[in-house]
Amino acid sequence: MQTYNAQDIWMPPSDIRLRIFSDSAALVRCAASTLVSQCEEAIRHRGAFKIALSGGQTPLELFEALASNDWRNHFDWSRMHFFWIDERCVPPDHPASNFGMAHRTLLAHVPAGRVFRIRGELEPTQAAEEYAAILQTELGKGDDAPSKLTFDCVLLGMGTDGHTASLFPGAPQLEEKRHSVISALRHDGDVVLPEHHRVTLTLPVLNAARCCLVVVAGAKKREALHRALTFFSPPELPIQRIRPSEGEVIWMVDKAACLP
Ligand code: 6PG
Repeated sequence: MQTYNAQDIWMPPSDIRLRIFSDSAALVRCAASTLVSQCEEAIRHRGAFKIALSGGQTPLELFEALASNDWRNHFDWSRMHFFWIDERCVPPDHPASNFGMAHRTLLAHVPAGRVFRIRGELEPTQAAEEYAAILQTELGKGDDAPSKLTFDCVLLGMGTDGHTASLFPGAPQLEEKRHSVISALRHDGDVVLPEHHRVTLTLPVLNAARCCLVVVAGAKKREALHRALTFFSPPELPIQRIRPSEGEVIWMVDKAACLP
């Protein structure tokens, strides 16, 4: 597995571990191996591994790898608890469903312990309130603030506009502090795009994670990745707001996503 010295290209803040891989297959191997280690540590110390997944296309190759014979036997699936970082407000069998994508590529093929999907078929606010209660039950120790709801890992992607989860540039949801889960609409600047409503975890929850694993792959992300890893002060892109208070943040990117 060849990796590249990231510091020759970008100078992100020192708390961000950046790893650049020759191709997406090498990235997936490293991401899978990282999840194996995190899972073993979480089960050993806390009895379960609690991970929140993103949707979109980037994680698809990783999910398929985890379900494959190369990796499936490295995990104690019965002790793995799956959650979602965000969801489109559609039924689980809808092509746009983040749960549906994870189910088709991973969860239908492994004996996962517990699966807590965001019920996209509900009215957005109701789905958000229901999921916030689930996070309190599964991660909280009473009536915990969002910043106390600690996942072992949150697996994040980045859109070509620098969004992550369903937190879009300039959106008011970026400043949410009181709620752990809220409804959102995709923005392009001040313009709300005519797309599905979404339900998303908020930054306090994402930044409470023990590990924020950001995966970015493909040439279409070059511009956003360059901006995200170069201009950090003040953070202009939602993905730059992923700065866990106590946990680690690891960026895994492939060479195709790096400017030549
Ligand atoms: C979503 C995702 C979103 C995703 C980025 C990147 O529901 O859309 O959770 O945050 O990670 O949009 O998507 P791609 O991996 O498809 O580029």
